[in-house]
Amino acid sequence: MAVDVLLGLQWGDEGKGKIVDVLTKGYDIIARFQGGPNAGHTLEFDNIKHVLHTIPSGIFHKGSINLIGNGVVIDPIIFKKEIDKLVEFGVDINSTLYISRKAHLILPSHRVLDAASEAAKGKNKIGSTLKGIGPTYMDKTGRNGLRVGDIELSDFKDRYANLVGKHEQILSHYDFEYDLKSMEQEWMDAIEYMRTLNLIDSEHYINSAIKNKKTVLAEGAQGSLLDIDFGSYPFVTSSTTTCAGSCTGLGIAPNRIEKVFGIFKAYCTRVGSGPFPTELFDETGDELRAQGHEFGATTGRPRRCGWLDLPALQYAIDVNGVTNLIMMKSDVLSGFDTIKVCTGYMHNGTEIDYLPYNIEDGQVEPIYEELPGWKEDITEIENYEDIPQTLKNYVSYLQEKLGVPISIISVGPNRNQTITIEKISASV
Ligand code: GDP
Ligand code: IMO
Ligand code: MG
Repeated sequence: MAVDVLLGLQWGDEGKGKIVDVLTKGYDIIARFQGGPNAGHTLEFDNIKHVLHTIPSGIFHKGSINLIGNGVVIDPIIFKKEIDKLVEFGVDINSTLYISRKAHLILPSHRVLDAASEAAKGKNKIGSTLKGIGPTYMDKTGRNGLRVGDIELSDFKDRYANLVGKHEQILSHYDFEYDLKSMEQEWMDAIEYMRTLNLIDSEHYINSAIKNKKTVLAEGAQGSLLDIDFGSYPFVTSSTTTCAGSCTGLGIAPNRIEKVFGIFKAYCTRVGSGPFPTELFDETGDELRAQGHEFGATTGRPRRCGWLDLPALQYAIDVNGVTNLIMMKSDVLSGFDTIKVCTGYMHNGTEIDYLPYNIEDGQVEPIYEELPGWKEDITEIENYEDIPQTLKNYVSYLQEKLGVPISIISVGPNRNQTITIEKISASV
């Protein structure tokens, strides 16, 4: 009677998609609980790279059901394109993909509102992916939104027109040009297509599955430092990316959650605007970007790179109740003479070891410890015993500092480039 949760502990793009794919064979159901097409989850196997935006990352495993929960926001156009690509790879969507009737819909006018809002913010822009995420969640909490279940109602078109009317009123306050009409037909066609999919009352489905001892892995999107409450507000996304979001985004009770897998990169990245205390503006930052191919899976934007930030990681571990850590992209650190880790900050003239309220530029100055690096190429290594001693030391150092075991280390983008330190089994 349990659910395991997997989520990102940094600013997103930690490698969640890869690890969900690796873990899926142990689970009956993979369920996305928040976010939308702002996410880009990359999976690599059989020399092919797949990027998923709305669809859970267990979709390539025939034996598992993939559920899009009520906490997710769906852009029908992007969703249909994503499905079309999967069908080309022989994925049988009809038998493996379920969608919550309570998930909210992203309208073309939400995307316009997102763009208008960002343009009006000028240099203070969030750096949104411009997928309409913020405006859609605003309509959800504002009790104006359209949900997937609404497309089954006879007055859906009226509901749509009514909401678009509200958006047009808001847009009239912006100095922003747009052409909604050109986007609407494709959207309506995609809605028509969605009507043919498995739309379900997902909270009933998931709770009876849990009662029937099915194993469930909840897949997070974005990262804990982009959480609407606990992230670097206002430079965040508009959903609860932390563990609590899996309860509200799927309709499961907190006492059902057993393991919480926290994914982090062996260093740190961020895409979009907002504070990033350990960001590197020098050659080392460029080297991390080049070696880690740090360019966004959704927007292609270069990711900002820096060293691992332990106070920020500890904060995310605490907020989520992480039971197992998974360290990604360890291979990217190969070749550095030394590796820096931020262990605290200078803040208002004092040394602190926690993430304070204000981490904007100039408020916190990272304090680093320096550890020896390793030179070896580790991308072909399969067993923990065979990794360089200095990497083992890095792993032990982090485990000790953070007080949580590191169960997996990832040494490359491929499914197979995954080293298990401690075997993970699905909670039942
Ligand atoms: P997600 O949003 O958390 O699923 O992560 P993304 O897919 O946006 O970004 C992670 C990127 O790193 C993708 O391009 C992955 O293929 C790649 N990746 C994942 N794990 C590793 C790893 O261990 N080493 C390397 N070099 N790349 C990795
Ligand atoms: P995955 O699931 C990295 C960032 C954007 C922007 C901010 C708000 O692939 O890890 P939004 O479009 O949500 O209004 O953008 O959040 N952002 C992400 N960064 N990975 C993601 O998802 C992200 N989703 C949103 O860059 O700074
Ligand atoms: Mg991503």
